Amino acid sequence: MKQYLLAPSILSADFARLGEDTAKALAAGGDVVHFDVMDNHYVPNLTMGPMVLKALRDYGITAPIDVHLMVKPVDRLIPDFAAAGASYITFHPEATQHIDRSLQLIKEHGCKAGLVFNPATPLSYLDYVMDKVDVILLMSVNPGFGGQSFIPGTLDKLRQVRKLIDQSGYGIRLEVDGGVKVDNIAEIAAAGADMFVAGSAIFGKPDYKKVIDDMRTELEK
Ligand code: DX5
Ligand code: ZN
Repeated sequence: MKQYLLAPSILSADFARLGEDTAKALAAGGDVVHFDVMDNHYVPNLTMGPMVLKALRDYGITAPIDVHLMVKPVDRLIPDFAAAGASYITFHPEATQHIDRSLQLIKEHGCKAGLVFNPATPLSYLDYVMDKVDVILLMSVNPGFGGQSFIPGTLDKLRQVRKLIDQSGYGIRLEVDGGVKVDNIAEIAAAGADMFVAGSAIFGKPDYKKVIDDMRTELEK
């Protein structure tokens, strides 16, 4: 069976009790912590920086942390997030001047690297870097906020990227972010995704374990 990763997005967690709430989502079965970084420049919202990530590590969070940079410029923050304890760092290719350099910088700092595609960002950004990405993240909403609805056109885009990954022969993760719920996760997996970010679907319900169990049941169907 395919190894699926579920990544609770702590953008929807209780920020006043972030360590506790993150630990709760992991104890409920989350595999990876999805950490959304917004700068009020690349996206119209402002969230967390490296200090918050380090605080989670100091609190005792040992699971992989997937840093989704929605910032411009990109490079300045990479060493800081790596030092704070990031496991994956992904960025939006149109937000950096030098995509190859930013990917290299992430790797040099010992993290897994990836590119993020907004709903209308062309996949051609992948043309010369398939050998350099560990993960490709497709946004299924426009970035900036949790709780938005899944944009159905993402399914076709996922199928295209799945084909590219399979043809490349590289073990690249295909991650999807935005509007992922119990009732659409099976369809999203069928389109080729193997890593699923879910914010409001998990943190919006009192029983995180029930949501995550239900998601896994859907994935096993
Ligand atoms: C949006 C963020 C997402 C967000 C997803 O820009 O990148 O990670 O937390 O939230 P939901 O799962 O509620 O759509
Ligand atoms: Zn995200």
